[in-house]
Amino acid sequence: MPRNLEDILDQVVNTPLVKVRSLTSPDYSLLAKLEWKNPFDSIKARPAVWMIRDAVAKGMISGKDSIIIEPTSGNTGIALAGIAKTVGFQLEIVIPQNVSQETKDLLRSLGAKLLETDDDLCPRVGVGTDQSIALAESMVKGQSQNYYMPNQYDNDSNFLSHYESTGPEIWRDTKGEVTHFIAGVGTGGTLTGVGKYLKEKNPRVKVFGVQPEKNHHLQGLRNLDESSKPALFLRREELVDEWFTISDKAAFGWVTIMAEKEHLLVGPSSGAMMAASQELYERGERGTIVAIFGDSGRKYRSVYRKFNVLLDNQFEDLLRGV
Ligand SMILES: Cc1ncc(COP(=O)(O)O)c(C=O)c1O
Repeated sequence: MPRNLEDILDQVVNTPLVKVRSLTSPDYSLLAKLEWKNPFDSIKARPAVWMIRDAVAKGMISGKDSIIIEPTSGNTGIALAGIAKTVGFQLEIVIPQNVSQETKDLLRSLGAKLLETDDDLCPRVGVGTDQSIALAESMVKGQSQNYYMPNQYDNDSNFLSHYESTGPEIWRDTKGEVTHFIAGVGTGGTLTGVGKYLKEKNPRVKVFGVQPEKNHHLQGLRNLDESSKPALFLRREELVDEWFTISDKAAFGWVTIMAEKEHLLVGPSSGAMMAASQELYERGERGTIVAIFGDSGRKYRSVYRKFNVLLDNQFEDLLRGV
């Protein structure tokens, strides 16, 4: 493995687990895993490093002539772009046009070439519906020599990154007391990787998946009726005990609460995790609940402005703490 990839790997672990006071009672302890403390500011640093390390080991990527191409709604692209810059290969990202302008600007500033498609927010999966994935696949087929597509939707290194890092961190940091795990679904890597690890440690741990409603604005998450389930997720979907479907309104409402009560600038998907945690609390579940906060609100100023989630001066104030 190139030395600089090892250096990145060293930093992609041990994100903090913090107590969310707004939704904690003596018998319900909600812990948020702040994944934006990873390099490149999101949970996707983990699968990105695992997938590239695997591709280097298998000789699929060599040097400057290698072009990585990947369909993504943003965070995987940003992590791959950061790695590409550090390790030295080219990157092309196939991205739905509706992702936030800040995400696209950031990707371009990191040197990635963007190919936009009219997928909604998350690359769709399934014959006849996907734009981003089909375009990336056709480019790889056309010029197979230099192109490599990690394909987070089907690559077991994505699952393994969470099975080998996120899951063990949660088990260690809760001293084995975790009873419920909540995460969103994009590729299903987080839910299945962490879910498998925690259930191996304690089969009584319950795993909850969070999906947004149809026509949503929660970047990074997928509604499973709008798009087929990714192959990676299908391999282990039985690990999810139950699903929550969360509206934009509920998720954005919690983004505002988290800003005002916890002084945290969270991303839309973290708002969805909070809404799911609240439903869990209200129906009487108790224990030590761990929820994934996949990214911060840094990239969503325009989204939060459009949906009246945060005032500009609130946003500026919180940005300093991210
Ligand atoms: C911002 C964000 N993106 C993606 C995901 C999940 O990604 P995946 O299912 O691809 O592991 C999460 C998980 O909660 C998330 O918060």
